[in-house]
Amino acid sequence: MTLQPAQKTPADSSKALYGGKGTRRITVHDIAAAKTRGEKWPMLTAYDAMTASVFDEAGIPVILVGDSMGNCHLGYETTVPVTMDEMTILSAAVVRGTKRALVVGDLPFGSYQEGPVQALRNATRLVKDAGVGAIKLEGGERSLPQTELLVQAGIPVMSHLGLTPQSVNTMGYRVQGRSDEAAHKLLRDAKAAQDAGAFAVVLELVPAELAAEVTRSLHIPTIGIGAGAGTDAQVLVWTDMAGLTGGKVPRFTKQYADLRATLGDAARAFAEDVSGGSFPAEEHTFH
Ligand code: KIV
Repeated sequence: MTLQPAQKTPADSSKALYGGKGTRRITVHDIAAAKTRGEKWPMLTAYDAMTASVFDEAGIPVILVGDSMGNCHLGYETTVPVTMDEMTILSAAVVRGTKRALVVGDLPFGSYQEGPVQALRNATRLVKDAGVGAIKLEGGERSLPQTELLVQAGIPVMSHLGLTPQSVNTMGYRVQGRSDEAAHKLLRDAKAAQDAGAFAVVLELVPAELAAEVTRSLHIPTIGIGAGAGTDAQVLVWTDMAGLTGGKVPRFTKQYADLRATLGDAARAFAEDVSGGSFPAEEHTFH
C-alpha cells in the first residue's frame, strides 16, 4: 500500500473549518463539506470552559470532551472509571466556553455497551443537559445498533476505531490493524459505522497506510491520532499537545508548548514572592 494524502482540491478559504470567516456554531454539515473540499482540519480535546474558550478563539473547529478526561483531568489511571455525571458536567462547561466549535461529548465506558436504549438515554443527556452537538462512541460493528438508533433520533455520532482505550483491559495500548485480518476488520468497521450514519470516524493508533486506505474508501471524514498524515483531520489530547502532561507522552504526540514548565515556574515565582514578602506589593493593596 502507498500512502496518499487525503487532500483533493484547494480549500475555499471563506468556508474553511479552520481559518474561515464563519462565526456561527459549526455543524456536522460543515464537517461533511470539508471532506468534499479536501480540507484538512484540527480537533483538540478540552475538559473545562476556560481552556475550551482559548481553543475556540484560536479557531479550532471541533472540540472533543474526551473520556481522556479520566487520565488528563480527573486523576484516574485510565478512561474506564469516567462516569456520565462527570462527562455531563465537563461537557456543559466546554459548551459554555465556546461560541463556534462543534462540541462532541464522549460516551464513557458502561454508558452504551448494554444496548441502543441505554446509549440513547445517555447520549440524550449529553445533548439536552450539556448542550453538545454530537457524541462519540467506541466500536464499529459492535456498536452498530447504538449508532443507528442515535442517528435515527437525530444525534450525530462520531465513531472511534483502532485502539479503543475503553477496552484497555483486553486490548492493551498497542498499534491496531497490523495483520491482514485486523486491517480487513478495521475497513469493515469503518464502512459499517458510515452505513449506520456516523458523520466521522476517529482512527487511533493505526498504521498510516491503512488509515489512508480507510480515508479513501469513506465519504465521511477520518480523524487520526497516531494514524499518520493520510487522514482528513487530526486530533490530539490537549494536555499532550501543550506539554502539560507529566512523564512519557506517546510518540505520535507533538508538543507545541511546555505548559508544565511554565506553570511550575509561575507557581515557584509566586511562592518565592510570598515567602520573601514581596507579594502583595503596594499596587495589589487596597486602603
Ligand atoms: O478521549 C479522547 O480524548 C479520545 C481521543 C484520543 C480521540 O478519544
